[in-house]
Amino acid sequence: MRVICFLLIFLGNSCMAASTLFRTNGTLSCPLFKTWCYVVTMYEEDTFRFLDDRIDTSGVHCVDANQISYHLIGDQNGDGFYNHYYEIALSVTHNCTTKRHNIRTIRNKVYYAKITSEEVFHNWNVQLIDEGERVPDFE
Ligand SMILES: *[C@@H]1O[C@H](CO)[C@@H](O)[C@H](O)[C@H]1NC(C)=O
Ligand SMILES: *[C@@H]1O[C@H](CO)[C@@H](O)[C@H](O)[C@H]1NC(C)=O
Repeated sequence: MRVICFLLIFLGNSCMAASTLFRTNGTLSCPLFKTWCYVVTMYEEDTFRFLDDRIDTSGVHCVDANQISYHLIGDQNGDGFYNHYYEIALSVTHNCTTKRHNIRTIRNKVYYAKITSEEVFHNWNVQLIDEGERVPDFE
């Protein structure tokens, strides 16, 4: 990839890395028989930038169901010259708790995907009740 980029720069073209499509789906379970709210986000942890790169987010939703399914999709275009892998992280922030006014965030274990991959699929199912670290708000 790097060699191709240098050649393209010498030829006067911009260097466009091929993009990778990321898809994640799964279920969030909250069998409390109550209304609860959640936001699921997929992002690329980038050591060369101060802010994480959000790939996709569900937005905040409030539901009555004991289980919902989610689907996130988005692409990324290269990751600087020195990284050959994307570091993909997921988080869910929710108030599926037995205490009032309690909002928590659960993170998955970061997984790695080659930047040359065309498509990467990941499945993450989460039991929410009282899980995660307390956070001040949904976003
Ligand atoms: C996730 O996607 C896979 C493959 O497309 C599908 O078989 C599975 O049913 C989906 N799961 C959910 C919870 O949507
Ligand atoms: C979660 O937050 C929503 C909106 O504030 C509220 O209606 C709901 O009762 C909360 N659910 C729980 C389990 O605390």
